[in-house]
Amino acid sequence: MAGTTKRAKVAAVVHPTENPPPAGTTRRTRAQALEVIFSTAIELGEGCRHGALGTPRYGKSYHLEHLIRAALEEGICDLALVHDTKREDPQYQGVIRANVAELGARPLGEDDPPIVVFHPDPRTGIKCTVEEVADLGLREGRNGGSVLVVVDELFKALKARQHWSDPSMGEILREGSSIRVSSAWSTQVPQSLPTEALDLTETTSIFMLQGRSLSYAIDAFRLPDEAAPVIKRLERGEFILVTNVGDWDGVIYGPT
Ligand SMILES: Nc1ncnc2c1ncn2[C@@H]1O[C@H](COP(=O)(O)OP(=O)(O)OP(=O)(O)O)[C@@H](O)[C@H]1O
Ligand SMILES: [Mg+2]
Repeated sequence: MAGTTKRAKVAAVVHPTENPPPAGTTRRTRAQALEVIFSTAIELGEGCRHGALGTPRYGKSYHLEHLIRAALEEGICDLALVHDTKREDPQYQGVIRANVAELGARPLGEDDPPIVVFHPDPRTGIKCTVEEVADLGLREGRNGGSVLVVVDELFKALKARQHWSDPSMGEILREGSSIRVSSAWSTQVPQSLPTEALDLTETTSIFMLQGRSLSYAIDAFRLPDEAAPVIKRLERGEFILVTNVGDWDGVIYGPT
């Protein structure tokens, strides 16, 4: 009996929120998710490849913002390049530049944080493509830097469903890790993901999904059927973590 009491106490520590997990699952924090996300990169001294997938407003960008800071702290990268052109205002914190040409003209100062957020002011008509940011990431990597390229909304890198507009993002996913070019992307619609994003991204955070997107994700990530009701009921800031070989640890991460 004493053993049972001890086990119950340990379980209470592991569950960070008041909300009991659905049967067959456990809860862990977002910091614990980041440990899993970075584990292979740290072990091998390479880059990491992560994706965030889910319905609008459920916390993908919030999660990626946290991931950028943690990746810098863990030494996964020395520099983060963030493509953030979705909203009128920047969603990520860092040094704002309209595009790569502007970064060339106004490089980071010594006291600047090593996070460049590419966000052209929509009123100026200036554009910033995913390609130019991804290409800069690859060049930095080939010159010996360690870089994290973040694409908030991967559909901006596509010309059609499952097809890249340009080569660099696929190249980062295929070859980036070994030259310490890490990647992190988000998308609302799993059906649009190109093969490299599905098959080469090491870990994907799946936030709440429903309907066709949910069925597609279960199939595409080869998840067990028990994952579907769990994903459907995730609340804002909660996600499950899956690997590209279909492993699911039965854990709900977040929201704290
Ligand atoms: N874990 C969390 N804890 C507290 N607030 C959160 C958390 N996750 C998200 N939020 C808040 O919820 C709102 C929506 O989050 P976010 O913008 O990250 O969603 P999203 O999935 O990126 O949406 P979209 O697909 O529209 O870009 C934001 O105001 C964000 O600050
Ligand atoms: Mg977002």
